[in-house]
Amino acid sequence: MAKKVVIAGGGVLGTQIGLICAYHGFDTTFWLRSESSIGRTQPKIERYSALMLEDLAKARALVGNPMGAFLYPRGLIGDWGKTTAEDIDALLEQARKNFAELVHLELDMAKAVKDADIVIESMSEDPKAKIGVYEAMKDLLDEKTILCTNSSTLLPSMFAEHTGRPAKYCALHFANTIWKNNTAEVMGHPGTDPAVYDQVVAFAGEIGMVPLQLHKEQPGYILNSMLVPFLTAAQALWADGVADPQTIDRTWELATSAPAGPFKILDIVGLETAYNINQMKPGAKEEGTLTNRMGRLLKEKIDRGETGVNAGKGFYDYTK
Ligand SMILES: NC(=O)c1ccc[n+]([C@@H]2O[C@H](COP(=O)([O-])OP(=O)(O)OC[C@H]3O[C@@H](n4cnc5c(N)ncnc54)[C@H](O)[C@@H]3O)[C@@H](O)[C@H]2O)c1
Repeated sequence: MAKKVVIAGGGVLGTQIGLICAYHGFDTTFWLRSESSIGRTQPKIERYSALMLEDLAKARALVGNPMGAFLYPRGLIGDWGKTTAEDIDALLEQARKNFAELVHLELDMAKAVKDADIVIESMSEDPKAKIGVYEAMKDLLDEKTILCTNSSTLLPSMFAEHTGRPAKYCALHFANTIWKNNTAEVMGHPGTDPAVYDQVVAFAGEIGMVPLQLHKEQPGYILNSMLVPFLTAAQALWADGVADPQTIDRTWELATSAPAGPFKILDIVGLETAYNINQMKPGAKEEGTLTNRMGRLLKEKIDRGETGVNAGKGFYDYTK
């Protein structure tokens, strides 16, 4: 069983991944590139650990409630059917201890990755930045270290050779609000060692995720192969002036009984990620295209600091 986990990148997802690893008892080090990254990551660690504890405490009140099985934080509680209120008290106590004792921040890459069993790269969706970090890391990693990427849109085969350990490299892709939406899509590239792939599947289970195995590389995995076209369609309706985000959300929610429409989902994902994905599409830099307009509208919101739930405001105001 892996013992030491390193997360490269302390953004929205990196923070959540690191915390879920610590919650499940793994010694967890965030490798960050600068003092200012620490200043940005520390508040996220505080925010997400508080949210995890809050949802765990709320689950206590759900014990015995038939709706509990639909609402409990699946990444934090293993077998809901057997969980008692006392079990949740014990989990809360252990979680506070683990968050306090098992989470470390480190700027020195060599120190961070020393003895790591698994390194999970969760940096911005920028191929050049990812390659730069893989190349800086490759001679520092132990022989045993498995390297995974949480990239949502880039394929592991794009990076495998830059890692210096293609056989020990694959994608392990999480969903936002990892402690509730506990999917972990595991996707190798053609050179991934099947034994390493199996270890990553097992690790995903050990950190409370449901491992979802892909048999081949697929841009967008299973989830985003469905979600990205859906969110793009919603943004296109907005950018084309067909309807406003709130009306588009309401249409989806009323018609399908879904709890959140596309713009609420975009607020959770973060508008920067949505923008980065948009800018990679054909036509994004071409004046007059709908994709270009979608990019401009997102950028206007980002420039106003309205980047989503994390910032307190996106398409909706979360400060109230
Ligand atoms: N946001 C989501 O819902 C979501 C879901 C699943 C996967 N992902 C994937 O997770 C990864 C991170 O996404 P995010 O939403 O957390 O982004 P984010 O913008 O919140 O965080 C990115 C982090 O990468 C760091 N970073 C950027 N360049 C770096 C460099 N050169 N060296 C070191 N650190 C660097 C930034 O400082 C920041 O901490 C992306 O690959 C994204 O596709 C995101």
